[in-house]
Amino acid sequence: MTDLAFAHTEATRLPEDQRRAILADPGFGNHFTDHMVSIEWTKEAGWHNASVVPYGPIQMDPASSVLHYGQEIFEGLKAYRRPDGSIVTFRPDANAKRMNESARRLALPELPEELFVQAIRELVRVDADWVPTSPDQSLYIRPFMIADENFLGVRSAHRARFMVIASPAGPYFTGGVKPVSIWLSQDLSRAGRGGTGAAKCGGNYAASLLPQDEAARNGCQQVLFTDSATEDTIDELGGMNLFLVRADGTLVTPRLNGNILDGITRKSLIQLAKDRGHAVEEREITVSEWREGAADGSIVEAFACGTAAVITPIGRLKSADFTIDFGDRAPGPLTMSLREELTGIQFGTTEDRFGWLDVA
Ligand code: PLP
Ligand code: COI
Repeated sequence: MTDLAFAHTEATRLPEDQRRAILADPGFGNHFTDHMVSIEWTKEAGWHNASVVPYGPIQMDPASSVLHYGQEIFEGLKAYRRPDGSIVTFRPDANAKRMNESARRLALPELPEELFVQAIRELVRVDADWVPTSPDQSLYIRPFMIADENFLGVRSAHRARFMVIASPAGPYFTGGVKPVSIWLSQDLSRAGRGGTGAAKCGGNYAASLLPQDEAARNGCQQVLFTDSATEDTIDELGGMNLFLVRADGTLVTPRLNGNILDGITRKSLIQLAKDRGHAVEEREITVSEWREGAADGSIVEAFACGTAAVITPIGRLKSADFTIDFGDRAPGPLTMSLREELTGIQFGTTEDRFGWLDVA
């Protein structure tokens, strides 16, 4: 599809007082804006019917392939309101690229990157009133793609649909920037060699839900997954990447090993830290190394990062066998200063020196 014209059908908008009430305390992922984007794809016709339509239920045949074989991928990014009232999104081109990598792994069609970015802009513009104005709040944007051919044979579908919805969002973890506790999943994995770990597909999250429930029962907010072969090499958290900070200021994060998501927050923090002169090691790192480093004082901070989580300090690592508290469970200084710099760029109070922002 070369024509980027989107057909628009205006929604009946939620009354302003109700929207304002939601924006006063949106939580995360509970409320949705007035519109959504839909673009259809068939093997014969390619991408077509790009439209912005009222947000609402979609009709789906019970035999739709996504319902049976999970052929689905998604993305997550945010729109921020700057002090001058303008609205920007953060690195949407990186999400477009990553969605296409996920599409290749899930045998779904690739969407032209400029069409992805255009779709985000169309939705943010039409629902601009939903972009919060308070600090720490943003509009979380969820692009996704589903296979919706109606048949039960197991093969990649010949029909798909790309959609974008948006949801005003406060902090993912409630209680301010408070260190979270992480549960080490020992028997249950989310990814294995050659699997879909590096793709952002619903199936990975389905696999993470039982360990996530186990984490919650143990007072933890996220699950730490290790490589299923070693059960010691760290992959990532259920919905975030992981960084450790050494006493000499070196940042250490698991390398992209095929099991983990190539996080856009991760990528951005590596660049910000290197730009400040910090060494950044992308390498294999084990739970044993983390435990020993925390005990002997060579690892001084740990944090989770992702679009939803931003940067969240980690205060405790817990498993069926041990509980380790880091420092006095207070947020680390480097963690907090990287968080400040990143959010400063996103909210337009710090110069966007890498050209990461897209004006909607
Ligand atoms: N890892 C997983 C499994 C995720 O779901 C996410 C969130 O999108 C991330 C890492 C962080 O990625 P990003 O920084 O692009 O949001
Ligand atoms: C995101 O950060 O965009 C995610 O998809 C992670 C999820 C925890 C909401």
